[in-house]
Amino acid sequence: MNTPPVLTLDAVHVRFPVGADWRGRPTAVVHALNGLDLSVAKGEVLGVVGESGCGKSTLANVLTHLVTPTEGRMVWSEGTAHKLQIVFQDPQSSLDPRLPVWRVITEPVFLKEQRSTSALRELAAELAEQVGLRREQLDRYPHEFSGGQRQRIAIARALSSQPDVIVLDEPTSALDISVQAQILNLLVELRKSRGLTYILISHNISVIRHMCDRIAVMYLGQIAEIGSAASVLSQPAHPYTRLLLDSVPEIGRSLDAGLAVGETELPSNRRLPGGCYFRERCPFAASGCDQPQALLTQGSGPHAARCHRASELQAFARQ
Ligand SMILES: Nc1ncnc2c1ncn2[C@@H]1O[C@H](COP(=O)(O)OP(=O)(O)OP(=O)(O)O)[C@@H](O)[C@H]1O
Ligand SMILES: [Mg+2]
Repeated sequence: MNTPPVLTLDAVHVRFPVGADWRGRPTAVVHALNGLDLSVAKGEVLGVVGESGCGKSTLANVLTHLVTPTEGRMVWSEGTAHKLQIVFQDPQSSLDPRLPVWRVITEPVFLKEQRSTSALRELAAELAEQVGLRREQLDRYPHEFSGGQRQRIAIARALSSQPDVIVLDEPTSALDISVQAQILNLLVELRKSRGLTYILISHNISVIRHMCDRIAVMYLGQIAEIGSAASVLSQPAHPYTRLLLDSVPEIGRSLDAGLAVGETELPSNRRLPGGCYFRERCPFAASGCDQPQALLTQGSGPHAARCHRASELQAFARQ
């Protein structure tokens, strides 16, 4: 990563106490994030992939301050406005149905600043135009729009407070295929024209391939592998990434559909495994893999993997 980071997560842990005994005390702890380190470069599109339950949305919630890390911290770089917005998968449930669209779009600004109604309306009109909606539509309510249009509204709302970073949590997976491409192209254009940084969570390999500069692969609340999209996709260094990619023979298939990791499931995040977290499911596990987890170190390619055997396996793959 050559450009300076806009924000950095430093050894972030998130633990959720769950259940309750007779005194109301939690009976178990869910280890959702387990020492997650991540730097996001200014202006990049960073893809985040991994099986259901690996902690992607928890990461998004930490970034948006909906969840406070149990340990570790998030640091913004100097010179940024520290503004981050999120676009969720389902625009149906993320837009307030009681507000007309001009109010929905300007809600983040309305909550923070005193602005006249006419100024807010004008802002909504400008943003509507940028996301491909018409001014005349702004007095309507969210349910009067199609799924794709609602996602345009959600994007306009995210833009209204002029964020540095936008987190996109499965932004197109609730949409029809034909509409997906339009929304992705809109995101590409907006990023160019506004110099935005995206953190894009997706299960869809073609979305990731189309959009991302870098890819972070998550496993059990950690980064298993991170690097340039080209190198992670063509020369994965972590066995988990290989299996994740091997399991998507067809374009457009979900990244973890029929994951070829034996028939095994993601280990319980209520009791973290000793040694490498992936060891139990890893076809390349060897004796050293029961040692404390590998650091997320530089492999031999232009990316880093948290695997004791990464360099060895990569060298083998090249032969
Ligand atoms: N508020 C919460 N209380 C208890 N457990 C939670 C809470 N939020 C998330 N979890 C648990 O934390 C783990 C990570 O969840 P998260 O939603 O981050 O996964 P994800 O990678 O986004 O999955 P998906 O791909 O299905 O969206 C899961 O085991 C989940 O059940
Ligand atoms: Mg999620």
